[in-house]
Amino acid sequence: MTRVIAITSGKGGVGKTTLTANLGIGLALQNQKVLLIDADIAMANLSLHLGMQNTPITLHDVLLGEASIADCVYDGPNKIEIIPSGLSIESYRKIDPTRLKGIVDSIKDKYDFILIDTAAGIERIALAALSASTEVLLVVEPTSSSIADALKTKISAQKLNCKIIGVILNKVFNEKGEISSENISRMLELPVYAIIPFDEIVRRSFYEERAPFMASGKQTPAMNEVNKIVSRLIGIPIKETSTKESFIKRFLNKIFKHKQ
Ligand SMILES: Nc1ncnc2c1ncn2[C@@H]1O[C@H](COP(=O)(O)OP(=O)(O)OP(=O)(O)O)[C@@H](O)[C@H]1O
Ligand SMILES: [Mg+2]
Repeated sequence: MTRVIAITSGKGGVGKTTLTANLGIGLALQNQKVLLIDADIAMANLSLHLGMQNTPITLHDVLLGEASIADCVYDGPNKIEIIPSGLSIESYRKIDPTRLKGIVDSIKDKYDFILIDTAAGIERIALAALSASTEVLLVVEPTSSSIADALKTKISAQKLNCKIIGVILNKVFNEKGEISSENISRMLELPVYAIIPFDEIVRRSFYEERAPFMASGKQTPAMNEVNKIVSRLIGIPIKETSTKESFIKRFLNKIFKHKQ
């Protein structure tokens, strides 16, 4: 059965879109059929994270009844499919976001996973994305403001009958003063599903390469954590790869290749 998962948060800028793009690729690398939907209708940027610029027909057009769904599904990296959102403020104002649920229901049978990138907070756009989903991954940073906002999102999601899979703790520096994962789990009364470190490769892959780090194959701490989420979601054993280990592996492979 298709799993429709909203990637959401209370506070903005915590890494929802980055996670949506990379988790989508991680799932596709495990042969899952994946659709990503940019439901951040007002502030869309999922297609930028995927390096896709030419997407003339978008979710805006479908929500306005001016295009069919098939017209706004694009092929992305690693065989994922994407429904991007538009950038027009004018069309955003006219849109009824509650129509999203009908759109998702009408296409969901084609996929193993639909990941919905949501707007932050609990305004109508974010709530419409939650209504279209059956499960939620709640992204937080280890700060009190992020957790306080996440609590409101958690309550809103539960009211909409979404099952909250767990908390994704992102941009963790492991510095003094950061709230620990145990305390976050206690405060939100939710399991912490993954802990993703602040990772310079993640930041640079967006600003410099405009490509998800999961597609580049670079061994990086964030990649290991995303792979753990993938393993948990599809129920396969978690493969622990330390970045040090893979560096040595790559080094040995290089020497070996050279000698052949
Ligand atoms: N683990 C990480 N390490 C380093 N930088 C990260 C990490 N996760 C996300 N970022 C960076 O944080 C910034 C915000 O990420 P992103 O756009 O995914 O957040 P968002 O929650 O979708 O924001 P918004 O609420 O505005 O939609 C981006 O520059 C991204 O590259
Ligand atoms: Mg975003």
